[in-house]
Order: sequence, then structure tokens, then C-alpha cells
Amino acid sequence: MTIIVDQPQFENDGEEQKPNNGEESGLVLDGGFCIPNTNSFGHNFRDYKIESERQKGVENFYRTNHINQTVDFVKRMREEYGKLDKVEMSIWECCELLNQVVDESDPDLDEPQIEHLLQTAEAIRKDYPNQDWLHLTALIHDLGKVLLHPSFGELPQWAVVGDTFPVGCAFDKSIVHSKYFMENPDYNNSNYNTKCGIYLERCGLDNVMMSWGHDDYMYLVAKENGTSLPSAGLFIIRYHSFYALHRSEAYKHLMNEEDVENLKWLQIFNKYDLYSKSKVRVDVENVKPYYQSLIDKYFPAKLRW
Ligand SMILES: [Fe+2]
Ligand SMILES: [Fe+2]
Repeated sequence: MTIIVDQPQFENDGEEQKPNNGEESGLVLDGGFCIPNTNSFGHNFRDYKIESERQKGVENFYRTNHINQTVDFVKRMREEYGKLDKVEMSIWECCELLNQVVDESDPDLDEPQIEHLLQTAEAIRKDYPNQDWLHLTALIHDLGKVLLHPSFGELPQWAVVGDTFPVGCAFDKSIVHSKYFMENPDYNNSNYNTKCGIYLERCGLDNVMMSWGHDDYMYLVAKENGTSLPSAGLFIIRYHSFYALHRSEAYKHLMNEEDVENLKWLQIFNKYDLYSKSKVRVDVENVKPYYQSLIDKYFPAKLRW
């Protein structure tokens, strides 16, 4: 594979962006969704010291995220990563590369990433055997986390994982730790802080810039490489961490009819994404031929990343 990457510069690259303690990691599930009292590490959450450390870690993570995810930042990232000039590799090669990165928000740090992908995909396949596009969507939904890998610029955790939200319009109160948006430069920008901001009502989420992370990156990669996945698959990939929409129904005024339809699939997908963790082990070699056949069907050529 070809690897050429410039290390992007970050304005606020403080220590809190790269927490490395287990307590921090225990809190935020894949999309950044917090489940209070979930004992992901086998910790006893009645231990108030551990619990409050955990809370502090998550809060720091979101503070940094909310301060730095601006319209300018998202534009820069989309432009830089939209070039797709970093690496050339297949979907399966990317699954294997992802095993080398550590998502610090993942409660199952011992579990290789490929297991989470396959567990999610296999669980959905069992319940929706005829939706092969959904199986493949599940397999690839988190591949954008390779942004944490040195070959992709080793972005800080706050620019890769966690809940996502639109930029360019008012930040909704339902977004986790939303008080920190007051420190975001866009917060007081009158172009960006109204209900619709730079967008038109019902313009379609496709036209809305989302905070930068693994979701938007994988969406760009799939789309620009000309995948034949249906729009519901691309929708799941781009918005699976957009909890303000799928938990709190915020930003619905920006959705068009197709988004409303696709959201139904995302709601289904999300149940599997969150709860497939720490379940049965998947025999990777055993299921690989099936997923390879889906890759060949929906991504016939090697991908540019
Ligand atoms: Fe996931
Ligand atoms: Fe994810």
C-alpha cells in the first residue's frame, strides 16, 4: 500500500485529547453514547473515586471536541481527507489495519476492532438475512477509525470518535456536554448560530456538514470510491454517532424525505452496534469468504483512502 500523509496541525492539542487510562475508556460506547453504570471494565461503580475520574475523562474529551469542531475545522478536514491520497487498500486490508489502532472510547479495549465489526455484522445478518448491504455496512461502519493510525495522520481521539453533530447551525442542547459549545468560536457567529444557520430547512442531511470523525471519513471514502451500497447504507455510516438525531430527534428540520426513510434503518442498526460488544467470539477465517463476496459486490475495485 502507498502511504503518504502530512500530519495535520491542531490548534488545541492539549493532553486531555489523548487520555490513556482505562477509566476514561470505559465510558463512551462506540458512537460516544454514555451508558451510566455500565460496568464495561468489571469495575465496581459504587467506587465513587473511580466513577468521578471516569466522568472527568469523558467531560474533558467532549470539552476539547466541542471547542475545536468548527465550520473551518470540518472544511479543512473534508478537503484534506477528501483527496483520498493517503493509502490504497481493500476493505478487508483496512479491517486488518484497524486492529492496530486503539479507540480509547471503546469499552472493550482487549477486543480487536475486527471482532466488533464482525459481531455487529453477524448479529444483523442473523436477524436480517436478506439485507446483504446491511451486513456489509455493519462490517465497514467503523473503518474510518484508521484516522487514528500513523499512516492517516494519527488524528487525536476527539477528531475521530465520540458523538457527532452538525456545524454551521446552532448546537442543540441535547448534545452531550453541550455547555462547552460556548467556548467554540462558531457559537457567537451570527451566520452559524441560528436554527438553520447556513442551511435551508429540509435541505437533506447530505448537504449538512457534520463534526469531523470516523463516520464522515468512511462516508467520503465509500461514496468517492463509487460504492453501489444503497443510500441507507451510506446514511448509517455517516450518522451512526449522531445521537442528537437518533436519540433526541434534534435537527429533524434539516432532513428530507429520503433521510426520514433512511433513519429507520439507522435506528435498527444502532441497537446492534451498541449491544453486540462483548458477545460471542466470531471465527474470523470462517466468515471471511462471505464478507469478501459482499466486498466484491459493492466495492469491486481497490479503494483509495
Ligand atoms: Fe461501531
Ligand atoms: Fe463508530
